[in-house]
Amino acid sequence: MLRLVTLTIFSVCIIASCMHEPRIDPNTDLDLLDQIARVSPTGSYEHYILPDEFDYDNIPQDPKNPLSGAKKALGQYLFHETGIALNANKPIGIGTYSCASCHVAEAGFRPGRFQGIADGGVGFGTLGDTRELSPFYDETEIDAQGIRPLSVLNTAFVSNTLWNGQFGSFGVNEGTEDVWDNAEDTKVNHLGLFGIEAQNIEGFKLHRMHVDEAVADSLGYTSLFNLAFPEVPKEERYNNFTASLAVSAYLRTLITNKAPFQEYLKGDQSAMTESEVNGAKLFFGNAGCYRCHSNPALGSETFHALGVKDLHEMGALNTSEEDKKQLGRGGFTGLAEDLYKFKVPQLYNLAGTPFYFHGSSKTSIRDVVEYFNNAIPENTLVPQEQISPNFRPLLLTEQEMDDLTQFLEVSLNDPFVDRYKPPYVLSNNCFPNNDEQSNIDTNCE
Ligand code: HEC
Ligand code: HEC
Repeated sequence: MLRLVTLTIFSVCIIASCMHEPRIDPNTDLDLLDQIARVSPTGSYEHYILPDEFDYDNIPQDPKNPLSGAKKALGQYLFHETGIALNANKPIGIGTYSCASCHVAEAGFRPGRFQGIADGGVGFGTLGDTRELSPFYDETEIDAQGIRPLSVLNTAFVSNTLWNGQFGSFGVNEGTEDVWDNAEDTKVNHLGLFGIEAQNIEGFKLHRMHVDEAVADSLGYTSLFNLAFPEVPKEERYNNFTASLAVSAYLRTLITNKAPFQEYLKGDQSAMTESEVNGAKLFFGNAGCYRCHSNPALGSETFHALGVKDLHEMGALNTSEEDKKQLGRGGFTGLAEDLYKFKVPQLYNLAGTPFYFHGSSKTSIRDVVEYFNNAIPENTLVPQEQISPNFRPLLLTEQEMDDLTQFLEVSLNDPFVDRYKPPYVLSNNCFPNNDEQSNIDTNCE
């Protein structure tokens, strides 16, 4: 009998706590670190401390592509190298773009505009913001996707890449083997690789790059390939596959470990202002953000519908309401329950470009915070039953929203990520773009 009563009280508490979180007053002090520990998946605030970018032992990596300094160095060049942009749709596009056309270092490794354009685009502006359709290309011929580019910062913590998590043989893709052959690109998952490694093999094709022995030689990369892949037989050493592995190694080292929140976690209490600390307390408390943004980089491999608008609604090129990208996880798994659900993105260095959510429908972090606070889906195509039950009005005050915005904008911004950009590429080409207008914009001869 006693057990039954206890059980009943217990279940009532569970149900009640789902609806009414006990409100923690951010001003009455539970110390921030204690509060973080309460909700951390490991029970410790240290869960959120990111490793040093040189600490190869502690950066998550694919055992089939172990990190090394040589691989990283090669990948850093190749990611920015316009000389490997050899499979352009038109001769005029050859040598004019790179991975970094859409993942601009100074802009938090995202493009400076609401949609990325590589082949078929011209111009750069200051952060890729003014890149536009080349007059020589039709919009169907360009390399631009119907969804906002994710940042490649902190991807070491992403086990299954893309907004729909389709790449990678492990993690949340275990059990989805039967759909891998449904699309040409996801067949790569049969190789038994982690998400970034699998994706970048396809990424080299999708983004029209080409590397072979002659290319490596003419651009000056042969000795770097030799250092990076000494164990690979010479005839298999210089190609898109090894190039993509080197780029994957580089991406794994792009870690925002110098953000003020990181300094705070490592013991420097002066790294964050009072407003930022209050914002963090909301993030890891009443605002409930920690529930979904739970991995060390504040993203996670879980998928949720927040009912945000899609990129075609923003006037993007080469996409439409038919675009499979906007079906989210469901577009990959084919399951109705996964429709319109998107991966939880990492939250560092968002301030570099003013475009948020998978359809770039928000242009300031404050607007994102208000969207979460109001919890009114803006995309009428997404059925109400798909919307996450954790997307519900937060009743935050203006001050609380300001504090949360400060935390996201300032505490989570590593101001030194341009340390990850190479000073030049070995071809000596201009980069990240190399079309005439971009070269004027970047003052590159
Ligand atoms: C034309 C723009 C464009 C170019 C060029 C580009 N990307 Fe991306 N990148 C994107 C978009 C868009 C996404 C998100 C796509 C999606 O989720 O469906 C993305 C996502 C990614 C991700 C996944 C991040 C995550 O958290 O899941 C990685 C890794 C990545 N890109 C690496 C690369 C590499 C390597 C190259 C060069 C071979 C490259 N990208 C070139 C637009 C681009
Ligand atoms: C139910 C899970 C969930 C909760 C709770 C949640 N988020 Fe998110 N968040 C997501 C998902 C999923 C996305 C991507 C949605 C999309 O674009 O379709 C996202 C996107 C974001 C973005 C935009 C990032 C980008 O690159 O575009 C920010 C900023 C953000 N969340 C902050 C917050 C804050 C602050 C809170 C707490 C008030 C919060 N989130 C609560 C799941 C969640």
